[in-house]
Amino acid sequence: MSGPEAARRPTADVADRAATGFTEAYGEPPVGRWAAPGRANLIGEHTDYNDGFVLPFALPLRTVVAAAPHPDGTWRVCSELSGETIGFGADEVAEPGRVTDWGAYVAGVVWALREAGHAVPGARLAIASDVPLGAGLSSSAALEAAVLTALVDLGGLDLPAERQPRLAQRAENGYVGAPTGIMDQSAVIRCRAGHALFLDCRDESIEHVPFDLDAAGLAVLVVDSRAPHRHADGEYAARRGSCERAAGLLGVAALRDVPAQGLDDALARLDEEETRRRVRHVVTENQRVLDTVALLRAGRVREIGPLLTASHASMRDDFEITVPEVDTAVEAALAAGALGARMTGGGFGGCVLALVDAERADAVAAAVTAAYAERGFPAPGHVTVLPGPGATRLD
Ligand code: GLA
Repeated sequence: MSGPEAARRPTADVADRAATGFTEAYGEPPVGRWAAPGRANLIGEHTDYNDGFVLPFALPLRTVVAAAPHPDGTWRVCSELSGETIGFGADEVAEPGRVTDWGAYVAGVVWALREAGHAVPGARLAIASDVPLGAGLSSSAALEAAVLTALVDLGGLDLPAERQPRLAQRAENGYVGAPTGIMDQSAVIRCRAGHALFLDCRDESIEHVPFDLDAAGLAVLVVDSRAPHRHADGEYAARRGSCERAAGLLGVAALRDVPAQGLDDALARLDEEETRRRVRHVVTENQRVLDTVALLRAGRVREIGPLLTASHASMRDDFEITVPEVDTAVEAALAAGALGARMTGGGFGGCVLALVDAERADAVAAAVTAAYAERGFPAPGHVTVLPGPGATRLD
């Protein structure tokens, strides 16, 4: 990501930094390295906890964990992000809340594994990351997944990839305390290079849908809005609560059960305008995911742009989770020739993605930066990406 944060970030490759960090902290080399990417959601926002559909892809920005077993059965973790080394044992992971801050994501994974009955090996870990923190690109899921895959391999645990997202989500919900859905952990663990991950959040079935931007001469420009996350946690929980209440009023298990053609009937049965808007977003967004998947399956990737832009309008007007910075970025990207643009992630800041002709990426980024300057916002960050691989062992 360009911008002031990137300038501060070390230039060595993230996998090298993890290995060096390990050797410096523990005086010997790691036995292996495990990587997990950040993610962007192409479309399908706030649909995951409504048992709906999402379509994320993995970013080429990664978190890498270098690791080795720790014979005394405890865990030690150092991170280049904070410069500290923390340690914890079985007592601290007996219940949530004992390890806090970034360490909670690591301890949460150990806790969730133990809760699920796994004999988690003690380990020494060193973390390095290129995924920007707090930008809505799932740096937390990347950390959870890199740690999880390392511990699964080191301990020879019986936890196949398809069961790992739920466990990582449990770490985030139960230990860290964030009531998020299943999308982020699924994306960072199960995505494939050159593809988007079509996930049905009800039964967790997946399809790797071709999203070969390179072949189409396209790219995704990811713009970090740099908007301060204003009350993001409380607003997320409030949206989730509204959706659950609406499902209850409509007599369905989840808003996923309201089909697009049944939307008008459902809205007529709700007497609050705000609830109607929330429901309309979720129902129309699920349909936009299905429409996007259909276009991608047919190799018509250029044509998904209007669906992305419609998704943004729905988040802005119906779900009310955008902020002026992200709306400005979307408008400027579209005016500069992006085929479609939308905020990605939970909202109230975070990143915008724009589908662009690859050779136009820099011009679109410049147009967004200029629009920011005109509005007096601090300069945005940006990076041009192609869909990368999910979590994997490196060596
Ligand atoms: C955050 C959550 C996800 C999902 C998105 C919104 O990223 O972690 O589970 O709900 O917001 O689509």
